[in-house]
Amino acid sequence: MRYLLGVDLGTSGTKTVLFDLVGNVICSKTIEYPLYQPANGWAEQDPSDWWNATCDGIKYVITTSGIEASEISGVGLSGQMHGLVMLDKNGMVLRNSIIWCDQRTAKECQQMNSIMGEKRLLEITANPALTGFTASKILWIQNNEPEVYEKCAHILLPKDYIRYMLTGEFATDVSDASGMQLMDIPNRCWSDEILSKFNIDKSMLGKIYESPEVTGKIHSRAAEVTGLCVGTIVVGGAADNSAAAIGTGVVRTGNAFTTIGTSGVVYAISDDVSIDLKGRVHTLCSAVPGKWTLMSCTLGAGLSLKWLRDTCCSEEMIEAERLGVDPYVVMDRLAEKVMPGAGGLVYLPYLMGERSPHPDPDCRGVFFGLSASHNRANMIRAVMEGVAFSQLECVDVFKEMQVNVEDMIACGGGGRSTVWRQMLSDMYGCSVSTIKADEGPAFGVAILAGVGAGVYDSVEAACDNLVSKNIILKPNPSTRKVYEEYYELYKKLYADLQGSFKLLSKLPK
Ligand code: XUL
Repeated sequence: MRYLLGVDLGTSGTKTVLFDLVGNVICSKTIEYPLYQPANGWAEQDPSDWWNATCDGIKYVITTSGIEASEISGVGLSGQMHGLVMLDKNGMVLRNSIIWCDQRTAKECQQMNSIMGEKRLLEITANPALTGFTASKILWIQNNEPEVYEKCAHILLPKDYIRYMLTGEFATDVSDASGMQLMDIPNRCWSDEILSKFNIDKSMLGKIYESPEVTGKIHSRAAEVTGLCVGTIVVGGAADNSAAAIGTGVVRTGNAFTTIGTSGVVYAISDDVSIDLKGRVHTLCSAVPGKWTLMSCTLGAGLSLKWLRDTCCSEEMIEAERLGVDPYVVMDRLAEKVMPGAGGLVYLPYLMGERSPHPDPDCRGVFFGLSASHNRANMIRAVMEGVAFSQLECVDVFKEMQVNVEDMIACGGGGRSTVWRQMLSDMYGCSVSTIKADEGPAFGVAILAGVGAGVYDSVEAACDNLVSKNIILKPNPSTRKVYEEYYELYKKLYADLQGSFKLLSKLPK
């Protein structure tokens, strides 16, 4: 038998999944690790936690499934985007990784704009200067920890550090490298202009590959600690969102997915490079060779409901324990009892500041319209609707850019909720489906490994054969009408409050 291995290095843990060649899950293991927040708005992780989780996860799936490691035809790597990993000349990690949701680099974003000019930066990197992306994190190290930068010989993204540990190669793939803000996105290569202006030596960066290309082979030390065979191929792989796109069959124009995980992502494929001159959504190279993608990322999606659960829903958590179900199932049932519009309560999901479509580190969450008649059920429904409205605002930007969505796939923890999926369908005005194999990014990179190993002819052909839809929800016209009215108010609230958010950010806390 032949198998494929997908490793997805997430923010809460690493998920390792072994698949057979028709996409069945043979064995899966998730190993969690901590997130460090050394200051307000900072977020870091220890790359050795990622490596240990990868080794233990791979060992687990090989031994538990009882297969021979030699039957694994290829390995694909996926991971959280934008994180900065710095190694010295001996390949040793210099400091913890500053990861995607870290917000410390507002000053460096201004610096990037003044060095490059906003327009030129957008033309080359297809994105405005963003605190979340890697370039501003590199500049922060140059400005604040020059002694670390001095010793730095290699700059890698999180999953590419794992590639280095597995194969000894310094390499990345187009989809993940797009989120570093150092690439010439239309030409799918590093930008010499950006690198020289930001004083980053090109030799520090890995070689860029297309996602299904072979980037290296498992070396003997990695074979010892993972149980893999020496010589097993490792393909380029993809950024978590681009890998999820492959895993959900989003590989052609018109296809798109919405993920409600910690962050909320809408992701659509485009045959051409289409850049939003207002910088509200991201343009990246796709993991499908020769294609691009539009992607939005809102920072407080699933996070908002988790926050509400942890701060206000202890009764629901007790009830869930009594029933032996997930607390979100109980919260879903409450939300279902409230009419669309949440009884006149509107929620803005800016708990972590926002990225898409309002790149604004200062905005914060809001409940608007609270009255004495409201209870937790209204608040739960309002949070779910507010998160869905924030995805709709991003889809509207895609439409403005002539990238239309005809068919939406829902994924992530939030995608499992029928109530939430119905909201998305009613708001988007299109069908929203789920995918039978729910392994997202790990499945996507296993498919890429299969293409690299010659098992499948192309990414598109593999997806046509392996990915199938499950439940399809259609929009309800009367609910859609109610949401249209609430959406106008939802959009107005951010515009009205923008100045007040700035004032709040300056008050002592
Ligand atoms: C995308 C982004 C997040 C991370 C989280 O730009 O920052 O979706 O990739 O995994």
